[in-house]
Formats: sequence, C-alpha cells, structure tokens
Amino acid sequence: MLGNFEYSNPTKLYFGENSLDFLNQELAKYGDNVMLVYGGGSIKKNGIYDQVVNILKANNKNIFEDSGVMPNPTVEKLYEGCKIAKENNVDLILAVGGGSVCDYSKAVSVSAYCEEDPWDKYYLRMEDVDNKIIPVGCVLTMVGTGSEMNGGAVITNHETKLKIGHVFGDNVFPKFSILNPTFTYTLPRYQMVAGFYDIMSHILEQYFSGDDDNTSDYIAEGLLKSLINSSKVAIKDPENYEARSNIMWIATWALNTLIAKGKATDWMVHMIGQSVGAYTDATHGMTLAAVSMAYYHHIMEAGLPKFKRYAINVWNVNPEGKTDLEIANAGLDAMEAWMNEIGLVMNLTDLGVKEDMLEGIADGTFINQGGYKVLTHDEIVEILKESM
Ligand code: NZQ
Ligand code: ZN
Repeated sequence: MLGNFEYSNPTKLYFGENSLDFLNQELAKYGDNVMLVYGGGSIKKNGIYDQVVNILKANNKNIFEDSGVMPNPTVEKLYEGCKIAKENNVDLILAVGGGSVCDYSKAVSVSAYCEEDPWDKYYLRMEDVDNKIIPVGCVLTMVGTGSEMNGGAVITNHETKLKIGHVFGDNVFPKFSILNPTFTYTLPRYQMVAGFYDIMSHILEQYFSGDDDNTSDYIAEGLLKSLINSSKVAIKDPENYEARSNIMWIATWALNTLIAKGKATDWMVHMIGQSVGAYTDATHGMTLAAVSMAYYHHIMEAGLPKFKRYAINVWNVNPEGKTDLEIANAGLDAMEAWMNEIGLVMNLTDLGVKEDMLEGIADGTFINQGGYKVLTHDEIVEILKESM
C-alpha cells in the first residue's frame, strides 16, 4: 500500500427489502420543497413512483417534479433542471432511478446556483464547486454505476459530441441512498447485464494499475469473484434475491472510492466507452463491453504480472506448464467466455458505430496516464478498429 490518501464517505446507505421506510426519517432532516427527479417512466409502471410520492405526501412535502431524465443525460436537460430547482427554492433533490437520474441530480445540485455555464465550468474546465450545493438523496432502481455513493456526474453534449464525467468531492456525494434489490427486478435483461459489466469494468479500471502489494487489489478480487458468481445465477433466475442483492452491494463498493485507495487507476476503457457513447448514445455498460477485449489484449504485455495474477486469482486458471503470457491470455479468454455467457454486446458495429466515426471517437477520448500503457491517438484508433 504505497499511496498517500484521504478517505471519507459521507453517504448513508439503507439496504434491503424494507429500506424505503427509512425515507421518512431522512425527509425529516430537510425543508419542505422536494424536487422529485426521475427518468422516462419505468417507476410509474413498476409502482415505485406511487410508493415514493405517498411517503413525500405523508411528510407534508411540496413536490416539484422533474421527469424525463434520459439515459446519458444531456446538457440541455441539465439547464432545465437548474431552472426548476432554483425557481422553487428546492431543499432536497430526490433522485429515483438509475445512474443517469442520480448523476443528473448531482449535476443539478452543483449547477442550480452556479453563476456561469455549468458545462464550461465543471465539464470543460473541470473546476471545483464554489457555490451553494443542494443536498441529494437517491432511491436506486438500476444497479451498475455506483452513483449512489460517489461524486460522479456524467453529462453528454451532443452538439460538441463530448460525454464527460466530473467526479466531485464528498460534499456532492448523495446524503443518503436507499438500496432495495427488489426495485431492480423490472429492469429489462439488456440493462441488467449492461449494469453487471459496468460493475466489472469499474473494478478492473482500478485493479489494472500499480505493481505494489496493495490491499485494494485483494478487495477488488473478492468483489470480482462475487460478481461473477452472482451474475451467473441472476441471468438464469433474475428474481433470485440473494444474487441480485449481492450484485447491488458489489456495485456500490466497486465505485465508492474505497478500492481506488493507494492506486493510480487506469479508466481507459471508460474514456473510450464514453466517447463511443457521445457518438451513438448507446447503453453505457455495452460501450465498455464492446471495447474491453481489444483494449486488454493491447495492454496485457505491459502489465503482464497483474494480468497473470488476475487469471489465477479471479478466473482460476491453472498456471502449471504455461508461460506467463499463456496464463494471462487464458484469463482473458475466461473473461470473454463469461461476457458471452451473460449476453453482452461484444462489438461496436452492433452499437451503431460506423468506420467513419472512429477518428472522431479517438479525438474525443481523454488519455489517462495511470494504467500500464499510455495510449497514443493511433493506438486508440487501432483498438476501435479491432472492436468493430
Ligand atoms: O428512464 P426510465 O424509464 O426509468 O428507464 C431506465 C433507462 O431506460 C431503465 N430503468 C432503470 N431502472 C429500471 C428501469 N427499467 C425498469 N425497471 C427499473 N427498475 O434503465 C435504463 C437505463 O437507466 P440509466 O440510469 O441510464 O442506467 P445506468 O444506471 O447504467 O446509468 C448510466 C449513466 O451513468 C453514467 C453513465 O455514463 C450514464 O450516463 N455513469 C456514472 C458513473 C458515476 N456516477 O460514477 C460512473 C459510470 O461509469 C457511468 O459513466
Ligand atoms: Zn461505468
């Protein structure tokens, strides 16, 4: 554990089948004006909307609705939300939905009282918040992003074809999050498995960096094994509470800053995936799945000891009689077989990417320095071509 770091996570979690009951005690801590943020309507179909609204009414809250948050929320929608929050003097933003709704709510919370254009300030210039922040609480309905316990807020600008995540500090983390695994049962299979891969990718982005003996890597391996095990159960039996609750908990710990401690972290699969998202608006987890195999094969030799360890510790590859390269390759083969088994999209063509977009996607990819290999623009184009 060679890094120097601070650790604090202020989000209070309520987990389990009865966790929505605790919304009552949380609401008591905030003023009367609650902005209820949700997506395209899934919560109206599955009854979560009615449950939440009944609790808000029972607590005599004034409800200001902001619906229609789209997957991969846009900057135009952000401006709309800021107006609602400011005009109604909102005391709490209650996000009821997946990562898009939670991310968007955090973006509104820091932007409503921002004097400048929040896109320029937070996304292009990556500045910190220096104005009033409206508190956010989440009721999570889709598992994957970890947005329920982190400061991430990803916004897409279709005009400039940029999808950018600002990772805010713990003053922007949700104040509380309600995690009821049964709320995720109505997710379409496509979204469910995309979420599974988003979790896998978050863990790997942090695991594939550094060469010290680091506790974070051992925690990461445990989370990965539990995810692989429970995902295999969940795809056969989506309403298996044990599997779905494990996965919900893994997702939270995969990206709530814990396993990044002491690590440089990579995040290049996400950087490429986000740029693919800016061009196609494809489902986040699927953009990661489509580019992962080409990316990991590309960097494997540069990080060979870690890829060998990954193969043995996570995928149970038997190292006997194999070279390090063969062991590492067998690990990636096992990962690819699991990806196919759970039904991920394994190429960019199926996500609507065309050859003539590849240069632009590479241009829109932010290049990080923390992984085993710092990519050039041409290498990104090569990885994209291999992913088609
Ligand atoms: O909009 P509705 O009608 O609610 O439908 C949603 C949406 O179409 C549906 N859904 C959610 N819960 C459901 C449900 N359908 C039926 N039953 C339920 N219980 O699922 C669809 C996808 O939802 P979305 O919130 O977009 O998915 P996800 O949670 O994957 O969030 C994706 C966004 O999070 C960002 C992504 O870039 C993307 O913009 N990320 C945020 C991160 C963070 N905060 O740290 C990190 C991630 O890497 C990611 O970048
Ligand atoms: Zn992600």
